[in-house]
Amino acid sequence: SRSFSQLSSPSQQRPSFGIAFDIDGVILLGNSPVGGSPAALRRLYDSTGRLRIPYVFLTNGGGFPEAKRASELSQILGINISPAQVLQGHSPFRQLASRFENELVVAAGKGEPAAVMSEYGFKNVLTIDEYASCFEHIDPLAPYKKWTTKNVKVNESTPRNDVFSERVQAAFIVSDPVDWSRDIQVLCDILKTGGLPGRNTGPQPSLYFANDDLEYQTAFPSERLGMGAFRIALESIFNSIHSQPLDYTSFGKPNPSVFQNAEIVLRQLVPLFYNDVPAKNHNNAQHFKTLYMIGDNPAVDIRGARQTGVPWFSILTRTGVFKGKENHHKFPADLVVDSVEEAVDYILTKEC
Ligand code: G3P
Ligand code: MG
Repeated sequence: SRSFSQLSSPSQQRPSFGIAFDIDGVILLGNSPVGGSPAALRRLYDSTGRLRIPYVFLTNGGGFPEAKRASELSQILGINISPAQVLQGHSPFRQLASRFENELVVAAGKGEPAAVMSEYGFKNVLTIDEYASCFEHIDPLAPYKKWTTKNVKVNESTPRNDVFSERVQAAFIVSDPVDWSRDIQVLCDILKTGGLPGRNTGPQPSLYFANDDLEYQTAFPSERLGMGAFRIALESIFNSIHSQPLDYTSFGKPNPSVFQNAEIVLRQLVPLFYNDVPAKNHNNAQHFKTLYMIGDNPAVDIRGARQTGVPWFSILTRTGVFKGKENHHKFPADLVVDSVEEAVDYILTKEC
């Protein structure tokens, strides 16, 4: 298929290891490569540009559908990345699509959160921008926010009036929220009223976060507040104005299920290295001796790999959240290196 045209020939030896790369603080800082990432990733392809080592990106970040993220990464890094190799914080939301298929859900965060949700099969999605724009005066600070003066286009499938009678059944924090004050206000309205702001009360709609990262590394020298910080702010405020404590679910690393899913995806990449035996037989037979997680955040990437256990081996880089000399005291990695280039060098020297 188109996505795997770069995969290697069937004669190749079965790989007994795979690699999961964190993105922010390991592969990129903002939109720029870091730690020699393009060169490190090129080593995973043969001289004809075919993939020779199974690898995925395992990021808590997101905001765009996997296919769009894959082509954006391919462009920045100068390699051909398949959408199947991109596992984002919000990727598990796909499993919730059948539960909320036709229900009104609100999606928040930078990028294109509604496009992400529609791609996963949600049919009645409004971004929090669209939703808020339906309610006059919902954000008393809006007149002071010069950047919100442009008109928000409301999804035509949901007429304006519906939001006054149709309860929001769930809110999804897809990626890092942009306007914290407005989003906290509107989410408190939705959650405390049972999905009808300014109106009735009812049971709290479901609330899902794509990750719980307190901080992450971008182009600024010190860490930036992440979705976990937003969750703390929302939870603390909600619990101060409402009698029932906030009920929510957070996905993403360090949950072991994320690493177990990455193993399944890596296993599914391997049969494509061979054409001789049906793919499903390879799939069942494939056994990785070692899976490497290369991350920059001890409490997220390293803790997750350690909690998941065999076959995960954790490698901590110094290009992101972690900047220490020695290993991290609370969540020590199996190996600490300066950069992703050094990590890949270690892996290939050991395995090949
Ligand atoms: O918003 C992105 C961030 O929280 C983490 O991304 O790639 O370091 O898991 P990553
Ligand atoms: Mg990171």
